[in-house]
Amino acid sequence: MSSFLASELKALGVEIELRYLGKQEGTEVDLPPIILGKFGNDPEKRTILVYGHYDVQPALVEDGWDTEPFKLIEKDDKLIGRGSTDDKGPVIGWVNVLEAHKKAGIEFPVNLVMCFEGMEEYGSDGLEDLVKAEKDKYFKDVDATCICDNYWLGTTHPVLTYGVRGCSYYSITVSGPSADLHSGIFGGMVSEPLIDLTHILSKLVSPQGEILIPGVMDLVAPLTDDEAKLYDSIKYSMQDLFDATGSQTNLHDDVKPSLMARWRYPTLSLHGVEGAFSAAGAKTVIPAKVSGKFSIRTVPNMTPRELDALVFKYINDEWAKLNSKNKMEVKLLHDGMWWVSDPSHWNYEAAKKATKSVWGVDPDYTREGGSIPITLTFEEELKRNVILLPMGRGDDGAHSINEKLDMSNYINGIKTLSAYLHYISVEPATST
Ligand code: BES
Ligand code: ZN
Repeated sequence: MSSFLASELKALGVEIELRYLGKQEGTEVDLPPIILGKFGNDPEKRTILVYGHYDVQPALVEDGWDTEPFKLIEKDDKLIGRGSTDDKGPVIGWVNVLEAHKKAGIEFPVNLVMCFEGMEEYGSDGLEDLVKAEKDKYFKDVDATCICDNYWLGTTHPVLTYGVRGCSYYSITVSGPSADLHSGIFGGMVSEPLIDLTHILSKLVSPQGEILIPGVMDLVAPLTDDEAKLYDSIKYSMQDLFDATGSQTNLHDDVKPSLMARWRYPTLSLHGVEGAFSAAGAKTVIPAKVSGKFSIRTVPNMTPRELDALVFKYINDEWAKLNSKNKMEVKLLHDGMWWVSDPSHWNYEAAKKATKSVWGVDPDYTREGGSIPITLTFEEELKRNVILLPMGRGDDGAHSINEKLDMSNYINGIKTLSAYLHYISVEPATST
């Protein structure tokens, strides 16, 4: 993917540098390179940093896809395939923006600095160090940043996004016997890792979604009246949620608490158990070593280290209560910070005008429940405003099966990104 993307950009005249960051921590696997690019260096123009990621979540036909996930299909006015909306489609959108200007012979309105990575879906390993090292070098002229890696809330109304949650991802590994055992022979004679693990996992979160780890909710910034009012005008309905999830399994009855749970409160999700018997059939086995995976989405004012301390202490305390002779190890796999920005900045004004000119309506201003770990680093290190300007819709199925990007969102998305850069070139500066 990195070679492909680099060659597409080079062909359009972008000066490319591939930055190799060594091995992934604790492994012998090379990290995928960061693609840095520059297009234009006119001191009279603003310089905009665009960021995206060319890595994707895993996908197998067996997960339930109707088509081969890594083959791009065009059907019913949709582009279907892993990464169509998250985030290969939007990244190619930036390529198309350059291509369109070139073909139409239109002067490019800004200088572009590009940063495309291949580890976003694993906490952006290595990128934070690179941004810190390059803030006064490669990124020194950046006036504002634009990230196209999120979605509208629903399916009809465009949005601009000024916040994401962070994500701290953990594993709990329980091991006992030296190999998987016959449950008829050894069941009742040995302590079973999966029984211990499920016991611990059940103590993390209630079925109503309440985090059961003491102290976590105390780290959350209190809700102010002004903030509460922001939710009143958001165009989102419970039906949007039902449609996007294909179910009516909502934890809250109304839109406002649902959106607050997604945007401004932490949540804990259980993702899976590695090493457990998970295939079809009825194998009578005692798995010898199992790892439960869970993550906590973080919000202002939680800090990853404070959260880790609460998580580790609680799990160790709960483990001690089991009096098990198995071994337990809890690990942080990766983490990324939350980010909340200032949507009154000229960066947002330009995006608002661009959205209106393409879609004919004013966008809603939203925060998001998902995470883009490098966002806060860009804003803090470069000391420049960041906007999330999405391309896809809320029902695109990011991380799910049959991920898609509607053709109209793709084409109008390219127009929106282009128009945004043109509005950027004329938008008066705001004080922030
Ligand atoms: N595009 C998403 C971020 C996103 C998700 C924005 C939902 C808005 C709504 C991004 O590619 C992503 O999925 N990030 C991971 C990061 C994590 C592994 C640190 C995520 O949120 O799970
Ligand atoms: Zn993703």
